[in-house]
Amino acid sequence: MEKREKFSSRLGFILISAGCAVGLGNVWRFPYITGKYGGAAFVLIYLVFLVILGMPIMAMEFAVGRASQKSAARSFHVLEPKGSFWHLEGYAAMAGNYLLMMFYTTVGGWMLAYVFKMISGTFTGLSPEEVGGVFSGMLGEPGPMTFWMIVTVILSFGICSLGLRNGVERITKIMMAFLFLILVILCVRSVTLEGAAAGLSFYLVPDFGKVAENGAGEVIFAAMGQAFFTLSLGIGAMAIFGSYISKDRTLMGESLNICALDTLIALMAGLVIFPACFAFGVDPGEGPGLVFVTLPNIFNQMAGGQLWGTLFFIFMSFAALSTVIAVFENIISFAIDLWGWSRKKAVLVNLILILVLSMPCVLGFNLWSGFAPLGAGSTIQDLEDFIVSNNLLPLGSLVYLLFCTSRYGWGWKNFIAEADAGEGIRFPKWARFYVSYILPLIVLFIFVMGYWQKFAG
Ligand code: TRP
Repeated sequence: MEKREKFSSRLGFILISAGCAVGLGNVWRFPYITGKYGGAAFVLIYLVFLVILGMPIMAMEFAVGRASQKSAARSFHVLEPKGSFWHLEGYAAMAGNYLLMMFYTTVGGWMLAYVFKMISGTFTGLSPEEVGGVFSGMLGEPGPMTFWMIVTVILSFGICSLGLRNGVERITKIMMAFLFLILVILCVRSVTLEGAAAGLSFYLVPDFGKVAENGAGEVIFAAMGQAFFTLSLGIGAMAIFGSYISKDRTLMGESLNICALDTLIALMAGLVIFPACFAFGVDPGEGPGLVFVTLPNIFNQMAGGQLWGTLFFIFMSFAALSTVIAVFENIISFAIDLWGWSRKKAVLVNLILILVLSMPCVLGFNLWSGFAPLGAGSTIQDLEDFIVSNNLLPLGSLVYLLFCTSRYGWGWKNFIAEADAGEGIRFPKWARFYVSYILPLIVLFIFVMGYWQKFAG
């Protein structure tokens, strides 16, 4: 058996995990949900959930990966007590990673398409309606959308094919560094716009009256769901990177670093978007179209808007691509762990598979738009997102939680020994009761609420 390749550095590990976590969830979903639920008060609630829910579950995923030295395809087989069925989660996790990519590659393609549209001046001189028309026009045409999806997939698998260190680690490091640099520049530009102050106060000064307006239950639920999605929890997407590191560092410490990076980037993305919205009199509660419709309009009114817009969509593309690369790495490792395939073979087979599997999402916006699986106006993308975000993530997180705390699973002692191996912050022992009994209930609650909101609310 070939020796498992490891990251070349701790920084590489942290940046790739952060690259996986930092994605459309931070730069697209977080701003529009924050806008919808009233700004700063929502952000505060979200931060609480990152700490009480996100960090411990991430440490558990890393522990399962590091102890088993396998991806989610095999990790439960290795660690579970003989005769138990925890490994069924492995199949759900694999399905989850594929399903996530089945719609994520399409949105990644939109980002690349928008870089191109910005550079070529597509939006220059258009009225707000016409800018909106560019987005709906793009959705209506399967050809170009398929093209950009294919570019996303080939680029990302190409990087994975170069290997863990030479491809994934090296390129992601560069991309994350640029992402951060562009983000800082955009922040400075946005915050110094005339009229930015109103946006800053919307974003940074909590107004709990707004939470009450939206219904506290709904706001809290949205904050919890966002915490899961943004940290990539529940389908072994983080666990894989645990299998590529040594036992030098405690896992709670590493989780803290990654959560902090992810949060920093989400908060800064908000710092770009909200001041700009207020400076140009645009409602930030616009919804999912915020990034694709609202922002190009803002860039149109801004001096040097074409440059800022291009930079902005390059930033968005990097965030999306680093996530796609990280999840592809996980998908490739399934085949390597299960059947001992070479990396090349795993890349090639999955490249074709993902291309085919990504097509329903693309076609769901045009040729197949008659199929509305979740009620009038819904798309295939909505269905895939629903299966992943509302089902596989919470239920998968629940399995990781129970697996690490229950004596019928891997068990608390094994988990703590793994999580606390190395230097750094230890998993708090007093939290045992909380993670064993209270946190699973919270997660279950998220799951039930998800259905409630979707079908009854
Ligand atoms: N966290 C990523 C984002 O914010 C999305 C993501 C990647 C993800 N891998 C995941 C979400 C695994 C859930 C599970 O865009």
